[in-house]
Amino acid sequence: MREFCPALAGKTYFNYGGQGPLPTPSLEAMTASWQTIQRLGPFTTTVWPFLAEQTTRVRQSLAGLCGVGPHRLALTENVSAGCVLPLWGLPWESGDALLISDCEHPGIVAACHELARREGLQVATLPLLGLCMATAQGELAGTVLEQLEQGLTPRTRLVVLSHLLWNSGALMPIAAVAERLQQHPRQPWLLVDAAQSMGSIAVEAVAPHADMYAFTGHKWCCGPEGLGGVALSERLLEQARPTVIGWRSLRNEASAASLFHRDARRFEVATSCVPLASGLATSLELLADQGTPAQRLQTICRGSERLWQGLQRVHGARTLLAEPPPAGLVSFTLSDATGLPRNTADVVETLGRAGIWIRRLDQPDCLRACIHITTTDAEIDQLLAALAAL
Ligand SMILES: Cc1ncc(COP(=O)(O)O)c(C=O)c1O
Repeated sequence: MREFCPALAGKTYFNYGGQGPLPTPSLEAMTASWQTIQRLGPFTTTVWPFLAEQTTRVRQSLAGLCGVGPHRLALTENVSAGCVLPLWGLPWESGDALLISDCEHPGIVAACHELARREGLQVATLPLLGLCMATAQGELAGTVLEQLEQGLTPRTRLVVLSHLLWNSGALMPIAAVAERLQQHPRQPWLLVDAAQSMGSIAVEAVAPHADMYAFTGHKWCCGPEGLGGVALSERLLEQARPTVIGWRSLRNEASAASLFHRDARRFEVATSCVPLASGLATSLELLADQGTPAQRLQTICRGSERLWQGLQRVHGARTLLAEPPPAGLVSFTLSDATGLPRNTADVVETLGRAGIWIRRLDQPDCLRACIHITTTDAEIDQLLAALAAL
């Protein structure tokens, strides 16, 4: 897989959680797809079967990974669209409360706040960051559920929680949270941000429990930017109205009145870039060639443990998690010889000058290095040596 990725040559790359590298076969599949479209004619009856085939192929692959039927899978542009499009179509009542974890991405949080402003909803925060940093992974599920219990009120109508937290790298007990929400008198909707989980861990047994399980192809799946998806629950498909509407939302283009698709396509909009589907489907096949999601996670965890263990020995480094991470996100802080926190932006820049790419985060102010199946031990050791030299 590594040899397929020109992006990994000549640098030491740890930003898979930001964007994964695009393998050459996926790039070639996209080019071939564009060429086929032009050869057949971009708007001809001869091209439609090809476009349908490419879209169906990627929808089926993504639905299979999510453990849902293809009718529950809407193709979107990215994680954010996968969250926002169905979320805004839910039947809200003024006074409903949204419970949002404090480890969610700012774009999703902002969308929820704007929804709350327009619909007269309340917003409450579910504090998890401190728990993740203080609790062993084996006990985290129970602790998160206790915290959820405290956050739920009779008005709670939605819970927003990532599967794999993008800041600490901790794994959330999504299935147990879903089960608890089913027992709540109002059965709150569960929106799961799967930006960091899809492509890095097995999600098949978890995604079907969420009402909205939104992901992108351009991070851990190593697909092109601009194509993602969202797996939707049956009850959401029954109750949510389409939001951004275009011809792809319609069951029958000839008669636009109330003829939206009954399935997840009601949240798809209009013309989009089909070659991206060819590229993502190829990346998913390449990943599958490397092993099952569970086998690949083992490889990832071997690497993230090596980094996590190494960080324990770097003077001034402190990992956010108290034990090796459950997947590929390794977050940490660095302090200088006097014990003062180092400026994380400076660290990113300094490492970047040496061809080593990690990122910083705002909340908490920390550094994050991601390990994928393509990461080598030598790269991890190089990062550790560079951090030690700092
Ligand atoms: C947890 C999380 N949610 C959402 C996003 C936004 O992703 P997208 O640009 O695909 O909408 C990111 C991107 O880094 C993320 O890490």
